[in-house]
Amino acid sequence: GNKIRNAKLVLLGDVGTGKSSLVLRFVKGQFVEFQESTIGAAFFSQTLAVNDETVKFEIWDTAGQERYHSLAPMYYRGAAAAIVVYDITNAASFTKAKKWVQELQAQGNPNTIMALAGNKADLLEARQVPADEAKAYAQENGLFFMETSAKTAINVNDVFYEIEIHRLMPKC
Ligand code: GTP
Ligand code: MG
Repeated sequence: GNKIRNAKLVLLGDVGTGKSSLVLRFVKGQFVEFQESTIGAAFFSQTLAVNDETVKFEIWDTAGQERYHSLAPMYYRGAAAAIVVYDITNAASFTKAKKWVQELQAQGNPNTIMALAGNKADLLEARQVPADEAKAYAQENGLFFMETSAKTAINVNDVFYEIEIHRLMPKC
């Protein structure tokens, strides 16, 4: 078919976890070592074929710096999906990710599909957050979980693909 579905999506997470890098990888297939910290938020869009459909993701890449925290509700309130990103080499960023999940659960739309992305999975030797711990947390809180790398591209398209699958089949 040639149906196009729009999906508003927001990325949330601590500063430097790789939100912009994940978006750059998904939208342009690129990675830069010195990605600049986001100011406010940045908008991108990208289409993805899922089964018979084309999904047009309308992506809000938010800034992780604390001074921008108060802007976040503008981006997550109407979102069909949220990707909460932490850095597997930074335990504090996982703590911050759990805070974002709590905020989404308390203030967000209950229909928003939530994904937890443990980014920088290429830096295994510096790991601080065990995958099992993140997976268990995600299961308890109704998120789906993947470890990603914006650098190597591992699991990046897959996160967006899985979001759309969950949107089509909310029970899975
Ligand atoms: P804010 O906009 O400040 O909230 O940060 P951000 O979450 O958008 O992080 P950003 O994408 O700017 O990435 C921060 C740094 O981490 C950059 O130097 C990236 O090159 C690096 N980085 C991002 N993703 C990865 C990854 O998967 N692997 C590795 N090794 N480095 C990464
Ligand atoms: Mg950024």
